[in-house]
Amino acid sequence: MTRQVYVNGRYLPYHQAGVHVEDRGFQFADAVYEVCEVHNSQIIDFPRHLARLRHSLDELDIVLSVGDGALRHIMRETVRRNRVRFGSVYLQVSRGKAKRDFPFPTPQGPATLVCLARASQPERIAALAATGISIITEPDPRWQRCDIKTVMLLPAVLAKQRAMTAGAHEVWFVDNDGQVTEGASSTAWIVASDKTVITRPLSQRILPGVTRATVLDQLNADGFSLQERAFSVADAETAREAFQTSASGTVLPVVKINGRAIGDGVPGPLTLTLRQRFHKYAAVT
Ligand code: PDD
Repeated sequence: MTRQVYVNGRYLPYHQAGVHVEDRGFQFADAVYEVCEVHNSQIIDFPRHLARLRHSLDELDIVLSVGDGALRHIMRETVRRNRVRFGSVYLQVSRGKAKRDFPFPTPQGPATLVCLARASQPERIAALAATGISIITEPDPRWQRCDIKTVMLLPAVLAKQRAMTAGAHEVWFVDNDGQVTEGASSTAWIVASDKTVITRPLSQRILPGVTRATVLDQLNADGFSLQERAFSVADAETAREAFQTSASGTVLPVVKINGRAIGDGVPGPLTLTLRQRFHKYAAVT
């Protein structure tokens, strides 16, 4: 089966798909994106991803003349054409192509819209969840508008590379006050000794994680004790449990932080419950 990619109104074979060399996404990272989980051929939490995409576009004044229903159709159709049962669907919108110049082009041309779907190896993610992952912490080098999901991902690329070299799976970034902001591509969570689940409140310093929102629904519905507050690296290293959330991994247990075992050094029971029951609370499209 040849993979197909959606580019500006057409579904093209993977090897023929491309955008212009002067696309502003390519030259300036002047583009935003979403990654949704595909579970049993369905797109998980599409309305929340769509709302976040609209927020990112609005904050950057990127005009996308494709409506919500059409976006939903494009994403579903890309998943269907690529026969993805478990994996992800990626949508990217850039300010379009224009002669290289920093300010927005006038008049603004059409935005570039690209959609790709990819199958994952569920057994690989299941194995990670069964053993738990190691993470390291590093100063957060990013800009002050991390609430916008832009493709300006070099800090995350470099952090992930350092994590890999260190034998870890993820980096949790830390602000100037020693408080964890979030993972390079995930939301950070800990469980305190009294079983209170803690995650940093939303602000412009972190991405409003879609999985985060659904896990909050889950925690509230199931009556867990919950605090949206900043926590330090020391809080994390001495936590009862730790985990991270993202569309690509849902809920992943963290068993080691900076080389120190968390709790008993195995995935925590609360984390595993959240992981097992996550899709009961997520919306399907
Ligand atoms: N990453 N924080 C950052 C910086 C992220 O890049 C992501 C997602 C998250 C989790 O958000 P969500 O639950 O909506 O996936 C938090 C995606 C998966 C990625 O870039 O591949």
